[in-house]
Amino acid sequence: MDYKAFVEEKISEIRKAVGDGIAINALSGGVDSSVVTALGHRALGDRLKTVFIDSALMREGEPQQVHDAFADMCIPVDVVDARADFLAALAGLTDPEEKRNAVTNTFYRTVFGRLVRESGATYLLHGTILTDIEETVAGIKRQHNILAQLGIDPKEEYGYHVLEPLAELRKDGVREVAKVLGLPHKISERIPFPGPALATRIVGEVTEKRLDLVRAATVVVEEELASTEAFQYFAVLLEDKATGIRNGQREFGDIVVVRCIHSVDAREATPVELPWETLHRVCQRIVSLNGVNRCLYDLTPKPPATIEYI
Ligand code: XMP
Repeated sequence: MDYKAFVEEKISEIRKAVGDGIAINALSGGVDSSVVTALGHRALGDRLKTVFIDSALMREGEPQQVHDAFADMCIPVDVVDARADFLAALAGLTDPEEKRNAVTNTFYRTVFGRLVRESGATYLLHGTILTDIEETVAGIKRQHNILAQLGIDPKEEYGYHVLEPLAELRKDGVREVAKVLGLPHKISERIPFPGPALATRIVGEVTEKRLDLVRAATVVVEEELASTEAFQYFAVLLEDKATGIRNGQREFGDIVVVRCIHSVDAREATPVELPWETLHRVCQRIVSLNGVNRCLYDLTPKPPATIEYI
């Protein structure tokens, strides 16, 4: 495919569709929504309003890093602090599907739905890619209809339009478009990070304290394992606890799992055979985090495990 021509074509399609209207999009910092943001901005300039929703579930410094990466490209991003909404929606939930639903509903209905209405935008730019559509059709993914997710009935509420400029591309194509658009390498080659973010890496209840712990463990794993160039590497906080001993005192502490996998398309995965030296270093740093006294390395391939823990 001629990706330069693709970019020009999409810019002109977005301009034509939106006319002199206003569009809005939600940026997560992932490659799909980043490409949509850059394309939309080239097409519409400041008539595209881009929001980054801070859900409290992001990695260390992520809202600011995403904001700054786009500011460097002269693309303004509004960081919306919705941490309290997400923490309230997740309080008391331990079932994985209930947790995922809480994050999705809070994102689309409570927060983004409100922002769309307040913005006066009638066009939504969305980073749906071909794989999302195929997986929805095959019943692997839940329905991907963004208006329905926003609680907007297009029949009742006239005037809302969804534009999905990446709907004919797969991930490798999106990365090519990212390069044409001049997005930095750290965005175009970013390791996959799930929509429900750190909530997929906490077994049991998601609280501010447990998020802080998994966030700190994620920093360690990302720093230590970046050089593996594995498909994904991250930390998970278990619900179980284990007895340990620290400063001569027994303590009933937290257990953190480290996962590092090879994969091509996330449908299958195998654990990376990390050197003992690396594993020991990671372990030592993880058990120095407050209250953690066990660090485990996950050797399970997918299948039967999934990549994430919820
Ligand atoms: P699993 O855990 O199902 O993950 O083996 C497969 C790949 O998908 C990512 N993942 C998600 N990505 N929204 C996303 O955008 C989600 O809800 C979600 N759940 C899992 C996961 O990180 C892995 O790369």
